[in-house]
Amino acid sequence: MTFIWQGSTLSGRFEDEKIAFKEKGEVDMKIAWRDETPRKIQQFPGADYPSTNPDLEDVLTSRDVDHVAQIFQTPLTGSYNWDYSVQDDRIKKLYELGKQLNWDPQMDIDWDRPWPEEERQAELMNLHDYPPYLALSDKERDEFWLHMNAWSLSQFLHGEQGALLVASQLCSCAPTFNAKLYAASQTFDEARHVEVFNQYIQKRIGLMYPINTHLNSIIDKILTDPRWDLKFIGMQIVIEGLALSAFNTTRETTPDPVLKDIVYLVTRDEARHVTFGVNYLEEFVQTLTEEEREERALFAFEACAISRERLVATDVFRHFGWDVEESRRKVLDGFVMSTFRNLLFQRVVPNLRRIGLLTESVRPKFEELGILEYEAMTDDGDIDWNKLERPLDITEAQSHEQSMLAAFHEAFEADQAVAG
Ligand SMILES: [Fe+2]
Ligand SMILES: [Fe+2]
Repeated sequence: MTFIWQGSTLSGRFEDEKIAFKEKGEVDMKIAWRDETPRKIQQFPGADYPSTNPDLEDVLTSRDVDHVAQIFQTPLTGSYNWDYSVQDDRIKKLYELGKQLNWDPQMDIDWDRPWPEEERQAELMNLHDYPPYLALSDKERDEFWLHMNAWSLSQFLHGEQGALLVASQLCSCAPTFNAKLYAASQTFDEARHVEVFNQYIQKRIGLMYPINTHLNSIIDKILTDPRWDLKFIGMQIVIEGLALSAFNTTRETTPDPVLKDIVYLVTRDEARHVTFGVNYLEEFVQTLTEEEREERALFAFEACAISRERLVATDVFRHFGWDVEESRRKVLDGFVMSTFRNLLFQRVVPNLRRIGLLTESVRPKFEELGILEYEAMTDDGDIDWNKLERPLDITEAQSHEQSMLAAFHEAFEADQAVAG
């Protein structure tokens, strides 16, 4: 199979974005290589939502290439494992569970359910008294909330792609045999997550936003760092820990039964991924020198600090012509956002403590962000096998077992009490 590369080598800058990438005498596979992430919003015609489609002509993208590829370089340090020693431990059990609990986005989700009525969330985002929001017509407000929804789901999708790429690296660089097999099963999980969110966005929403720059920078850092344990810390502990909380909230708040099912199925997998990260890293971190440990602790903190920033849909505000910094501040000043973005760390912070990365030198930094208080919460290190082993049950997706909304209401009441 011969590929003809036109232009420069992979690592170079390309003068022409479009490079023909073709098999001899075959149909073109058009790939546009980019040095930077495309910032366009994509539209997909014929999506379920909304039935009265708002006017979105301005975001139509040209379809002159089939693939847009952005390059990253990584000095990956991989390892073989020649003794194939299978330890009958938690990691092996998690791998077995990964095999048993496979699900299929095409078979396990009923995609044809109608879109339910939806309420606007202006108060939740603290936009109910923001003049640029109030200046929007009813139709424009519908469009605005569609964009907000599309933005969040797009970040889920891009995060899943990041997880797919990192998990595949872990197959090469995890040092033990069990962990390599486990990483392979996670890689397949992440492929299905990318599949399901992509399908959801294209079929249900019809709009896709580019990756948020903060999320992009964390994933870049994780993918391009040669240290395997740093990949585990960034992906399994920070990004997937945050995703667990975000998915749970989505499950509680979305009116769409299709999305409820999706996040239920994805969350089951993510719970396994985080559990693996905590169990695998817990022992490894103990083998590090003080200096190496501090380095990891600082990295974890920075990933948390950046993640806190990425929760704001500034690309949507920009699309609607708002002052980006002003609207960002407005949203962050609201009680709901300021509380929720901290609640998202309920899983991450106790897990960092558990693996030994909440060191004395980073604790004040976490305190400054207002998320150190979660360190005493339950971590994901002690495995609740009953929970992880339960067979798939879609109807369970409709249940509200998670505590994030409850925690939010508690905080809200406390806040009201203080305000008198
Ligand atoms: Fe995932
Ligand atoms: Fe994952």
